[in-house]
Amino acid sequence: MSEEFEPRILAYCCQWCSYAAADLAGSMRLQYPPNVRIIQVPCTGRVDLLYLLRALEDGADGVFLSGCLLDDCHYVNGNYKALKRVEKAKEMLEALGIEPERVEMFFNSSAMGPQFAQTCNDFTERIRQLGPLYPQPRQAAAGA
Ligand code: FES
Repeated sequence: MSEEFEPRILAYCCQWCSYAAADLAGSMRLQYPPNVRIIQVPCTGRVDLLYLLRALEDGADGVFLSGCLLDDCHYVNGNYKALKRVEKAKEMLEALGIEPERVEMFFNSSAMGPQFAQTCNDFTERIRQLGPLYPQPRQAAAGA
């Protein structure tokens, strides 16, 4: 598509594990793309299905959740609930003709700073390959 495309990505990270992993990645001076904007949440189980879809509707090209490792959620099963919502969001996107790969769920413990950085790199590259979600409005806006 275009080499210049820089995706906008929203990441909901639980405060107990993945947000700490993002902190650790920063402390370790690991590079990950500035495309990823992180929102800290108490638990991925608190992220409603609508938050995922609304992020895409409001201009994100991709959105992911990053929670505690399965069976390590501080609220017992929040990450399992989040995983189900991500799967539902994928189904809904597919029904709408939108690539379901634009939504994903990852699991990173607080000690997994390098893995978190890799998650950001890999997901950014995935979305870069998919291209912009709404190419026309952005190009029109840039030319206006
Ligand atoms: Fe981390 Fe639930 S507290 S996913």
